[in-house]
Amino acid sequence: MNNPNILETRTKYYLTTPIYYANSRPHVGSAYTTIVCDVIARHKRMSGFDVAYLTGTDEHGVNIERAAEKAGISPAELVDRNQKIFVELWKLLGISYTHFIRTTSMQHARSVQTLVRRTLRRSPHAIYKAKYEGRYCIYDNLYISDTPEPADCPNCGRPGELISEENYFFRLSEYADRLLGLYKEHPEFVQPGFRLNEVKSFVESGLKDISISRKSIKWGIPWPDDPEHVFYVWYDALTSYMTGIGFGEGEEGSEEFRRYWPANLHMIGKEIIRFHAVYWPAFLMAAELPLPRQVFAHGWLLFEQEKMSKSKGNVAYPEPIVKVLGNDALRYYLLREVVFGQDGNFSRDALITRYNADLANGLGNLASRILTMIEKYCDGKIPDPPLPPSSDQTILLKCAAVRGEARTLIDGHNFSSALEKIWSLISTIDKFVTDNKPWDLATVTNQRIRLNGILYDSCEGLRFVTLLLYPFLPNATEKIWVGLGQSGKIEKQLIDETPWGSLMPGTRIGKLEPIYPRVDKKETSERIETMEQEIRNPGSTQPAATTPTSATSTAPTGAAAAATAAPAPGTKITIDDFAKVELRVGVVKSAEKVQGADKLLKVMVDIGDEVRQVLAGIALAYPPEELVGRKVVVVTNLAPRKMRGQESNGMLLAASDGADGKPVLVTFAEDIPAGAKVK
Ligand code: MSP
Repeated sequence: MNNPNILETRTKYYLTTPIYYANSRPHVGSAYTTIVCDVIARHKRMSGFDVAYLTGTDEHGVNIERAAEKAGISPAELVDRNQKIFVELWKLLGISYTHFIRTTSMQHARSVQTLVRRTLRRSPHAIYKAKYEGRYCIYDNLYISDTPEPADCPNCGRPGELISEENYFFRLSEYADRLLGLYKEHPEFVQPGFRLNEVKSFVESGLKDISISRKSIKWGIPWPDDPEHVFYVWYDALTSYMTGIGFGEGEEGSEEFRRYWPANLHMIGKEIIRFHAVYWPAFLMAAELPLPRQVFAHGWLLFEQEKMSKSKGNVAYPEPIVKVLGNDALRYYLLREVVFGQDGNFSRDALITRYNADLANGLGNLASRILTMIEKYCDGKIPDPPLPPSSDQTILLKCAAVRGEARTLIDGHNFSSALEKIWSLISTIDKFVTDNKPWDLATVTNQRIRLNGILYDSCEGLRFVTLLLYPFLPNATEKIWVGLGQSGKIEKQLIDETPWGSLMPGTRIGKLEPIYPRVDKKETSERIETMEQEIRNPGSTQPAATTPTSATSTAPTGAAAAATAAPAPGTKITIDDFAKVELRVGVVKSAEKVQGADKLLKVMVDIGDEVRQVLAGIALAYPPEELVGRKVVVVTNLAPRKMRGQESNGMLLAASDGADGKPVLVTFAEDIPAGAKVK
């Protein structure tokens, strides 16, 4: 945590994620920005900066009001519930934020009111009251048009709602020249460069004044001295970047605010660039407050070529990935696979392939290979370095080059290229070991000095790799750091103040905790899919499909995922709870294997008035042809779901004793027709 009272000599660096809507739980898309910011925060700390890192939840607005109404609870209950899920997820993902802001906090209401009061004092002309009529998207909180004619939202395509009321307006139209001046003098203000061009054209095409209050909504921050109005959710949300570090406290802002504001970086997704690169600087200009240094708009993570979005329901969730493959795997995949700034596709297959190829076979293999040799050939102690001047400076030179290049690339937010560079160092060390064959040298007495030199260089190279990778892969690198016998926390190391040769000969190496065990692609993919399904549709997964696979015993586990909603074993339910499950006798008409899924059978089952397609995880226990004609018990009122691209419309009851995990179908000793109720 940052303590502003301590005399701070380091340069400050303040970065923010967007403040996420708390109308539902986070998904891989929301985790993306937060993970990227975490990498930057860790990298900046290792570069000697005093970092403040803010994230939070956006808890006001009509979409929250409506989501609460739909769930039959109050908006306050809804945001409390979802905010906790965000915090839990950030904990699970090891996000090192220093500040968390909730827009429903008292402190934030004070801050927003302070900002508008300050604006009215400094630029009285900037805010005025007028009638507003227009179309508004409640899902994206976006004004679509300033005329009452029907119009669709450019972001999500849904029809805009008609709004007609008296509002406070912000005179945005008068800020065009100052904004264009800002973009000209500081082209780094909007990044990547092509986004700056989009923003410039938008401003050049003419700015209209925008409404910054609402009368029709209750769930918001009241306008000072005019509480019938609440603040427009974007004015409210953007201000949270200042509240989080103490704006609105004391006179106008705390000591901490004065230290960290303006933000060095607002990291956002491309769809909210206009709010950040046009509205926000204009609001701050009117309030005569310093402007953030940079707004970086990254691309979208796509799922089957569409933006992942809670409202479209086409989302992947981070918890199952972390639970099955560990935290580093998700971080690595997102930063390595997607060229930062552009859109990228999210694919479970590619995630597992990268995990096996780069993490298990690459980094994991190199670390265990080197440390095993130190144990075996050097009694578990770091050997002496090569005698200077060593003829072979392969690793030394490569480390120096990669450190500089990776740093520049990370500072330029070019994460995938930075990782590629670091992986080229891993390959160089791997090749160095293979070419020099320490295992042969160990058999020849007069090669001891050479053997030591080679193993020292390899270890020192591994130490560099570990330091360079820490911001990306905090879990495994910490283990390798301990494995190398290093004392002191890895996150406290300064990347530029660790010269080659810092590894002390004679240091006892530690035990390397297992990192990145290889996993079976199919099994792992199925496990992740099943857990995701459980999040989307709690209680919907079939018993056999949730049976732990062999990957469970070896894969790293994160903290518990928020995936399961089933009550604890032994918990009593009421007869009404039981009555919610509709069970019927079914007769199997046909069964066949599902391509690409070892355990799944596609079963067509007659339930009296229709024949249903059910996917059942019983393929290892039943040859499909043996099932035809068999009577089974079918859960018929389960929401349909997709597995391996095929719809499953129901579930077959089966028992399994957990020892070998094989499912045994529930059936009938006496005759009973298809469709009969089971109760
Ligand atoms: N509450 C506003 C932001 C206010 S900031 C002052 C908001 N919230 S949001 O929950 O919709 O989150 C939007 C942000 O989440 C995006 O800008 C982006 O950072 C991240 N992402 C959400 N879905 C994403 C993808 N599918 N892909 C990449 N990032 C995504 O807008």
